[in-house]
Amino acid sequence: MARSTATAPAGHGLAFRGVSKHYGIVRAVDSVDLDVARGEFLTLLGPSGSGKTTMLMMIAGFTAPSAGEILLDGKAITHLPPEKRNFGMVFQGYALFPHLSVFDNVAFPLKVRRRPAEDIKREVGRALELVQLTSLADRMPRQLSGGQQQRVALARALVFTPEILLLDEPLGALDRKLRTEVQIELKQLHERIRTTFVYVTHDQEEALSMSDRIAIVRDGRFVQIGRPADLYERPATRFVAGFLGESNFIKGRVNGPAEGGFSYGTGGESFRQKASPVPAAGSEVLLAMRPEKIAVAADASIAATNRIQGRVTSWNYFGSDFHFTVATQSLGQLAVRCPAWRIKLEPRNEMQVWLGWDADAAVVVADD
Ligand SMILES: Nc1ncnc2c1ncn2[C@@H]1O[C@H](COP(=O)(O)OP(=O)(O)OP(=O)(O)O)[C@@H](O)[C@H]1O
Ligand SMILES: [Mg+2]
Repeated sequence: MARSTATAPAGHGLAFRGVSKHYGIVRAVDSVDLDVARGEFLTLLGPSGSGKTTMLMMIAGFTAPSAGEILLDGKAITHLPPEKRNFGMVFQGYALFPHLSVFDNVAFPLKVRRRPAEDIKREVGRALELVQLTSLADRMPRQLSGGQQQRVALARALVFTPEILLLDEPLGALDRKLRTEVQIELKQLHERIRTTFVYVTHDQEEALSMSDRIAIVRDGRFVQIGRPADLYERPATRFVAGFLGESNFIKGRVNGPAEGGFSYGTGGESFRQKASPVPAAGSEVLLAMRPEKIAVAADASIAATNRIQGRVTSWNYFGSDFHFTVATQSLGQLAVRCPAWRIKLEPRNEMQVWLGWDADAAVVVADD
C-alpha cells in the first residue's frame, strides 16, 4: 500500500500525527498522518464507512482521537474544545434555522460570539456578497431553492472568518445540474478567500474538479494523496484506479525490457508498456488502463503500438461519448470510451472491431 506523502511546509497548516479513532474493534481511523497547507483545498474521497466523517469530526473537535495528535501551525489542538478552534462547518442537510431569515441565519454565529450590532451588519453583508445572496437577505429558508439554502449555510460557516472550513458532503442533497453549478461557485469562492478547505465527498468527479489535492481514504487509512491529475493518471493501486474513474485491469507476465519499458504476454499475445523502473522479466504485472485511452475502429487502420481484435457486446450513447464493452480473446472484456464526434463507425452489437492503445496508455499498479 502506498504511503501518504506530506507536501505542506512543516508546522504551517493543519496536521494529523498518528491519529486513530477506534470504536470497540472498529478502526474508523487507523493511525494516519496528514498535512494540509494553509489555503489548500483538500478533499477526502472514499467509499461509505471509510472514515471520512470521523476525520472531519476530529478536526472540528466534536470527536476525540483515541490516539495521536492534531496540530494547527505546529501547536497541538487535539484536546481544544470545538468553540475554541474557530473552524466553520457545512453539512449535507444545510440545517438552517427555519424560523430565521437568511440574514439572521448568517448572523447567528456572530450573535453567539456577542459581536456588536454594526459589526454583525457589516460581516453578514460581506458573507452574503461572497455567496451572491445579498438580494435575498430578508427571505425565509423555505422560500429558497436547495442551492440557495446551501449557499446560506456556506455564508453562515464563513461569516466569522474561520481559519479552516470543513465541508461534509455539502452538495449531497442537490440534483446533478445544481450540484455542478455550486461546485463551480465553491471553487471560485475558495480561490477568492483562500481559506483552508477540508472537503468530504464520495463523488469522484466532484473531487477531481474542485480540489488542490485529494486524499483517497480506505478502511480508515490514506491509500494515496496527490493532485487530481496525478492520482487519475498515476494511481498507485488497483483500488485507487478503480475508485477514481473507471479502469480496465490487465494481468500479464513480463517478457523483458522493450524501448522505454517492457513487453508482457497475456492470453497468448504480447503487448508493450512504458514504465520506469522496468519490472523484472518473468514477474507478474497488473496494469490499469482508462477506457478513454483505447481507440476503436471498424478496421485495422488504428495507428497504435498495441492492437487487438474484439467483438462489441454492448454500447451506449451519452451525447458526448460512446461507451462500448468489447469482448477480446486475450484480455477479456474491455470498457472503451470514445468522444462521439470522433467515432468513425456505426455501432452495432456483435460487430467486429479493432482496438488500439499506445505504450503509455496504461500504468502499472499494485494489486491490493
Ligand atoms: N459513534 C460511532 N460508534 C461506532 N462506530 C462508529 C461511530 N461513528 C462511526 N463509526 C464507524 O466508523 C466507520 C467510519 O465511519 P464514518 O462515518 O467516518 O465513514 P464515512 O467515510 O464518513 O462514510 P459515509 O460516506 O457513509 O458518510 C464506520 O464503520 C462506522 O460504522
Ligand atoms: Mg460521512
